[in-house]
Amino acid sequence: MGRKSLYLLIVGVLVAYYVYIPLPGDFEDPWKLILLNAKYKAVIHLAIFIELLGLNHFLASVRFFMDEKKVPPTSDENITVTDTTFNHIPVRVYVPKKQPKALRRGIFFIHGGGWSGNSAASQNYDLFSRWTADRLDTVVVSTNHRLLPEYRFPIQFEDVYSSFKWFLRKEVLAKYGVNPERIGVVGCSSGGNLAAAIVQKISDDPDSKIKPKIQFLFNPLLQALDMDTPSYRENSNFPSLFKSAVVRSWSEYITADRSLEKAMLSNQVVPEESSHLLKFVNWSSLLPKRFKKGHVYSNPTYGSSELSKKYPALLDVRVFPLLADDKKLHGLPRTYIITCQYDILRDDGIMYATRLQNAGVPVTHNHIENGVHGLLFMDLKITRKMKNQYVSWLRENL
Ligand SMILES: *[C@@H]1O[C@H](CO)[C@@H](O)[C@H](O)[C@H]1NC(C)=O
Ligand SMILES: *[C@@H]1O[C@H](CO)[C@@H](O)[C@H](O)[C@H]1NC(C)=O
Repeated sequence: MGRKSLYLLIVGVLVAYYVYIPLPGDFEDPWKLILLNAKYKAVIHLAIFIELLGLNHFLASVRFFMDEKKVPPTSDENITVTDTTFNHIPVRVYVPKKQPKALRRGIFFIHGGGWSGNSAASQNYDLFSRWTADRLDTVVVSTNHRLLPEYRFPIQFEDVYSSFKWFLRKEVLAKYGVNPERIGVVGCSSGGNLAAAIVQKISDDPDSKIKPKIQFLFNPLLQALDMDTPSYRENSNFPSLFKSAVVRSWSEYITADRSLEKAMLSNQVVPEESSHLLKFVNWSSLLPKRFKKGHVYSNPTYGSSELSKKYPALLDVRVFPLLADDKKLHGLPRTYIITCQYDILRDDGIMYATRLQNAGVPVTHNHIENGVHGLLFMDLKITRKMKNQYVSWLRENL
């Protein structure tokens, strides 16, 4: 074989490797997914390589390659957009220009990005918040938080909680013309994790008399105590979230110690003395039959007590909102959860929907059959349908 054909062969194999993806579903635009898959795969391999060379942290490289363009706060004909701080946390606020007929709804929004990427200024989040404010005639506060790997739990949680509590102050709500009885918390992915966590926390915080009326969670991350659920098994190599990257993010959120990542990969996180927690993430009892199809449950293996003693965050409900007990869940507001069939996080959301429902919380669970993680920012027909459902549910329930 000549040198030229050898090169061609290598390039061909590489292209095939990055582009190949078994598509199980009936996707509206398979090429979008194929390209997305190739991009994510390449970024993750590059980030691993850069880390091996000792040049940069894996998550910092992923952020560098994946982050959306940041845009300045620009008002348009309908919405006034400003950057400010709530209790020292940078936030971006969207207020409709139209003269209000009464006090408005207020949405507190938390972006996704695995606690390590994006911000309120990321173009896709800026557009979404602006669109929400305009369509619903509502005030939107899009909060930032400090990011991994420079900062880890509890910083992300505390940043978001402290900006949320600032927003709930009477004088702040009055300044933006927000009705204290019509406040909603919305989050995507890791933002959904933070949203669920702050909604639980505020529900019995005696400092705050004002409580949110609803929570809306897009594809949230809610637990890492069992990473062998059917959705983990089915979608571990499916874009836009690969299991290796999700495990790395979860473990980094808690500690830089890579032994936790190993424990998570072998599903050995919960120590024997905390075995009572496993029932809160037991997919065998919490998933409806159709999501268990073909999967056999096995209890996660017990992990080392040393690890959970060293890193108490490992059993902390502010990290894993699914660990809240039923009594706590009972006090939570009306909830909307979106899950997607081809999302590794699917079962997290479904289990939370089941648990909230069992605890007496009104839940709307919207499961999207041909959906993937990150659907919100894909320009597809099912995206538009989902966004319209989002707005009409909020119009009715907030
Ligand atoms: C402003 O609102 C009008 C009326 O709803 C709409 O047609 C227009 O597209 C909006 N402008 C922007 C920039 O969204
Ligand atoms: C999970 O639920 C199944 C059946 O509902 C049960 O057999 C199993 O013991 C449970 N495991 C844990 C760890 O709770």
